[in-house]
Amino acid sequence: MSRPTAAQGEADRLLGPLGERLPAPVKGKPGPPLWLLAELTYRCPLHCAFCFNPVDFATREQELSTESWLRVLREARALGSVQVGFSGGEPMLRDDLEVLVAEAHRLGYYTNLLTSGVGLTEERAEALQRAGLDHVQLSFQDSTREANDFLSHTRTFDLKQRVAALIKRHEWPMVLNCVIHRLNIDYIDKIIDMALELGAEYLELANTQFYSWAEVNRDQLMPTQAQVQRAEAVAAEYRERFADRIRIIFVVPDYHGTRPKKCMNGWGQVFLTVAPDGTAMPCHTARMLPGLAFPHVDTMSMADIWYASEGFNRYRGTDWMQGACVDCPEQANDLGGCRCQAFLLTGDPAATDPVCSKSSQRERVDAVVARAEAADPAQIAARPLVFRDPKASRQLSGRTQGSIPPTPSRPARLPESSP
Ligand code: FES
Repeated sequence: MSRPTAAQGEADRLLGPLGERLPAPVKGKPGPPLWLLAELTYRCPLHCAFCFNPVDFATREQELSTESWLRVLREARALGSVQVGFSGGEPMLRDDLEVLVAEAHRLGYYTNLLTSGVGLTEERAEALQRAGLDHVQLSFQDSTREANDFLSHTRTFDLKQRVAALIKRHEWPMVLNCVIHRLNIDYIDKIIDMALELGAEYLELANTQFYSWAEVNRDQLMPTQAQVQRAEAVAAEYRERFADRIRIIFVVPDYHGTRPKKCMNGWGQVFLTVAPDGTAMPCHTARMLPGLAFPHVDTMSMADIWYASEGFNRYRGTDWMQGACVDCPEQANDLGGCRCQAFLLTGDPAATDPVCSKSSQRERVDAVVARAEAADPAQIAARPLVFRDPKASRQLSGRTQGSIPPTPSRPARLPESSP
């Protein structure tokens, strides 16, 4: 699935169930893992070219048992977690989803489901409502059937429309999420119009973060500066015009800014992600980072994972910093940026995030943006995307992170007409 609010969008902000700000972490001592992201499975019926699941997901098929997930929920709640996001892959593919939601509800969590909509039938919606599900986030890939289905490599647009109506019928607050990139950013007004028509309360226009599958397809998905500026202006105009109907979230993509984001609101500060196989990480893509061991929920308590494990402590706070970050007066604002991005762009997970204009390696980001500026649109349109699927995953899993991908296993054409 696309990187969801809980994993990258919401994860980058610290928002409560009603969009309120949650308390900021206390300096020096980690607070509780307020947000638990339960990635129930990497299985997914969609094949998005920007999926945030690891590129090698097909080599990690093992999934935690229901009993282990129930224990994770209980232990994390005892530690102070207040929200849980059930994510994937497609979480509807787990038959025990209703059991997990019911237990999370009983424990007092605010429960979120992050779904592509596939599998969310009337029957399961009723069961999830009975279980106490609080909130559904539905992903779209674009505002037209042609573009949505192209980008997800599935025929799911009509189904998503039906699921949006079902979410409204069950009176869940509806968050639509649409990953934004070069191929759909010019139609952002149409995407907002669609969200308004569907009655969404929140719309997350989640600018692509270039990890995982999006990093493989980076040259095709990277927007130009002019595209980003126009989209930002359109989003701001709609935000003002429809302030009483919808909350629109649009965050300028990292590469087009001069300061990195405080990724995950700080490493090991708020977010605790449990991958489908039970590996616990401060962010869902952290497993790519070299030289770090991440604990498993079946062999370590959630308290030890959060407070004592090496994986959660390595980049906590500011002591690990090097380079431009060391004496930077802004270090508390972004905590050095994103470790995964730093690694992908420099090969060093402890480097200052090169998105920062103070980084000695900012030219690496500038070069990627300059390539996007100079690219011939026709050439971009003609270059195949690598769609997420198990076969492509196995082909790509041996590659060096950040290297040019091999020949795509599944070429595709862009839609012939734009939305
Ligand atoms: Fe930013 Fe992993 S995605 S630290």
